[in-house]
Amino acid sequence: MRMVDLIEKKRDGHELTNTEINFIVTGYTNGEIPDYQMSALAMAIFFQDMTNEEIANLTLAMANSGEIIDLSAIHGIKVDKHSTGGVGDTTTIVLAPLVAAVGVPVAKMSGRGLGHTGGTIDKLEAIPGFNVEISNEEFIEFVNRDKVAVIGQSGDLAPADKKLYALRDVTGTVDSIPLIASSIMSKKIAAGADAIVLDVTTGDGAFMKNQKDAERLAKTMVQIGKLANRQTMAIISDMSQPLGLAIGNSLEIKEAIDALNGNGPADLMEMVYVLGSQMVVLAKKAENLADARTMLEEAIVSGAAIQKFKEMVQNQGGDSTVIDHPEKLPQAEYQIVLPAKEAGVISKMVADQLGIAAMLLGAGRRTKEDQIDFSVGLMLHKKVGDKVAIGEPLVTVYANSEEIEEVKNKIYASITVAENAEEPILIHQIITE
Ligand code: URA
Ligand code: CA
Repeated sequence: MRMVDLIEKKRDGHELTNTEINFIVTGYTNGEIPDYQMSALAMAIFFQDMTNEEIANLTLAMANSGEIIDLSAIHGIKVDKHSTGGVGDTTTIVLAPLVAAVGVPVAKMSGRGLGHTGGTIDKLEAIPGFNVEISNEEFIEFVNRDKVAVIGQSGDLAPADKKLYALRDVTGTVDSIPLIASSIMSKKIAAGADAIVLDVTTGDGAFMKNQKDAERLAKTMVQIGKLANRQTMAIISDMSQPLGLAIGNSLEIKEAIDALNGNGPADLMEMVYVLGSQMVVLAKKAENLADARTMLEEAIVSGAAIQKFKEMVQNQGGDSTVIDHPEKLPQAEYQIVLPAKEAGVISKMVADQLGIAAMLLGAGRRTKEDQIDFSVGLMLHKKVGDKVAIGEPLVTVYANSEEIEEVKNKIYASITVAENAEEPILIHQIITE
């Protein structure tokens, strides 16, 4: 088999066989197929698309290119959760201890943030001492004993995807549904959970700018999960405005603590309950979504959820006293309030632009090598649909410098005040097998 023939085959719109896809993935992983041929193939896929069967084969080939984590030593049905990325998305940090508190084992591998999107692992590292690199043995021990651990993705998980994703990043081939679906699902399958709950975000802050694409991505991933014998469901959620009120690492840990104490912002709590109920049902800890939701609400009211978060932080070496004293989290030197310049109703808060504003303060990475400043970020005082008067606080900027002109301009430019606004929809659709 020759790579050039396979590139031409895809370029001309034909379907690649499983044998051909395995040849490509194996050859690319071990370096026999060079980047220039792989980028030509990625571009051919971008334009010609793939069938569901090709996507499933590509996913499994990439999952099998490295370590497949064996979670069978953990009792019960392990449910993983994945979001395709957002701004201020604090969901996982609330969900992991919350669903663990009702008995669902959560063995979660999360990623770091890049660009305007934040990563769960970075946020957890805002807690002094929190270690995201524990051994596989400890990981399994913690989940068996306390039902929860959240760690960084292991280096050898789907190495084919790691290489291909980096290549796509610099060859204009990221925005391809077959490539995104196979990339995400290869890592989820290799991470070893029995069931997978996907949050496919749509809107300005997301990969999928419109709902039609989000729906196709979600359906494709659910289909792949089914073929790989993992029960999979997806929700399509709105990421046109940030989720919750906090954007930034310390600020989002504080937001997660508030949420676990029953004081979370409404949209964040709704996401948590919708995703969490699905996880509880998939793990067979409740018979239906309504019962699952009641269990989760009770775990917050009783204090079981926040207690679980303390255990998780302690297990992983973190200072759990921050949970009762969030002021011990890294704090920014300056808090600068940006007042509204116009009266009306907030009609737009562009998520990716606000994510970039937080990144410019140091809350995120421009490049993979950047260091994160945990203390900085934004607190929104308003969300889409809220009324605002002139002079009322719109956003508080948490910064370690008073020179924030660029950030300030970006924030004002990303918020629109109008006479009225469309009611924001948080969850567009739920997709099951
Ligand atoms: N996230 C991934 O892991 N892969 C993609 O291709 C896009 C988003
Ligand atoms: Ca948030």
